[in-house]
Amino acid sequence: MKLIVYLSLLPLILCSISNIRKNNYLSNDNGHDISNTSNRGKVSIIGAGFYGTQTAFRLAQYDIFHTIVLTDIIDGRSEGIALDLNHCSSLEGFNTNIIGITTENDKGYEKTADSDIIIITAGIPRKPGMSRSDLININTKIITNVVTNIIKYSPNAIIIVVSNPLDEMTALTQIVSKFPHNRVIGQAGVLDSSRMSYFVSKKLNVPVSKVVSLTLGSHGETMVPIISKCKVNGLPLRDLLNEMDIEEICNRTRDGGTEIVSLLKTGSAYFCPASAACKMAKAIMLDTKEILPCHTWVSGQYGLEGLYIGVEAEISRQGATVIESSLSSLELKHLKSSAEIIKSKQKSLLDILSLNNT
Ligand SMILES: NC(=O)c1ccc[n+]([C@@H]2O[C@H](COP(=O)([O-])OP(=O)(O)OC[C@H]3O[C@@H](n4cnc5c(N)ncnc54)[C@H](O)[C@@H]3O)[C@@H](O)[C@H]2O)c1
Repeated sequence: MKLIVYLSLLPLILCSISNIRKNNYLSNDNGHDISNTSNRGKVSIIGAGFYGTQTAFRLAQYDIFHTIVLTDIIDGRSEGIALDLNHCSSLEGFNTNIIGITTENDKGYEKTADSDIIIITAGIPRKPGMSRSDLININTKIITNVVTNIIKYSPNAIIIVVSNPLDEMTALTQIVSKFPHNRVIGQAGVLDSSRMSYFVSKKLNVPVSKVVSLTLGSHGETMVPIISKCKVNGLPLRDLLNEMDIEEICNRTRDGGTEIVSLLKTGSAYFCPASAACKMAKAIMLDTKEILPCHTWVSGQYGLEGLYIGVEAEISRQGATVIESSLSSLELKHLKSSAEIIKSKQKSLLDILSLNNT
């Protein structure tokens, strides 16, 4: 009798097992529904150094892209890293396929074709004692070459620039690509704001999740921490810390990259920078319309005209749209001074470009 009952239940049990298997296959540990592959895009990461590699790994873990292409000029480097990352897929529970390619001058870019997003990390990083601006000549040549090639194959992509000096390299990418300004975005503010939140949380001994921070302006000496928007558990930072402590946090945030460069001695920060670029890529791909501080083209907002500068922007499948919000008069003054300096740097970039063309 028992046997008959078991046999009659067998089709049901088999069907349930098959459903469990199917569901396991169609979902992942990250909780994203990946059954609709048409929602998943393609991202190309140019430069498989510390920043590019960490970005590839993090984006693979998000599992929101069907393909990640990782490129470098060092023969075999991207291919080796891509294979290593693909080996992680069963452990990390992602279905993204990572492809590594070696590029040489204008060769090898075909596999980046039809990318939804391109993240440019190619270039050299700082060494101790160097400012971001010291990288300008070499990275201008690298970025010009990279952008000229990627746009041939992905004319509709949104480009996230991270290579330094960021203020100039973002402007350069738009000049070379001739893309609409909203489709070229620089990464700095997400990183700097995250650094600031960390320092605030340590100073007040509160969980970092309770802290909201915002930095605008340049990625460098003229970064503008927006204290009026910095909150801890919803309370203004100025109600919790004195001006000296706030100043100390702002300085450490502004010099956060330099502090890491001098500790590492070879190379610059890449974990938090990669997390920042990935947050932006995710917002684009999933069309979240999150408001993030990014290097975005301003045309009249805050009284600023015709430059890339760190401001808050809505990030979506359309790229970046500046969102102007109220600042204190002192913060606005600092933002305008930062803009003056960035504008002159972006102007001297044009001189470098015309020199390179002669
Ligand atoms: N925006 C930010 O917040 C931020 C933060 C950290 C680092 N960065 C910048 O990001 C860049 C990369 O940093 P990193 O630590 O990965 O440096 P890295 O030296 O580890 O990697 C750079 C890689 O770019 C490759 N490369 C050079 N020319 C190339 C080309 N034409 N095409 C493809 N790849 C090319 C190099 O071979 C190298 O593997 C640097 O300019 C650094 O200053 C920016």
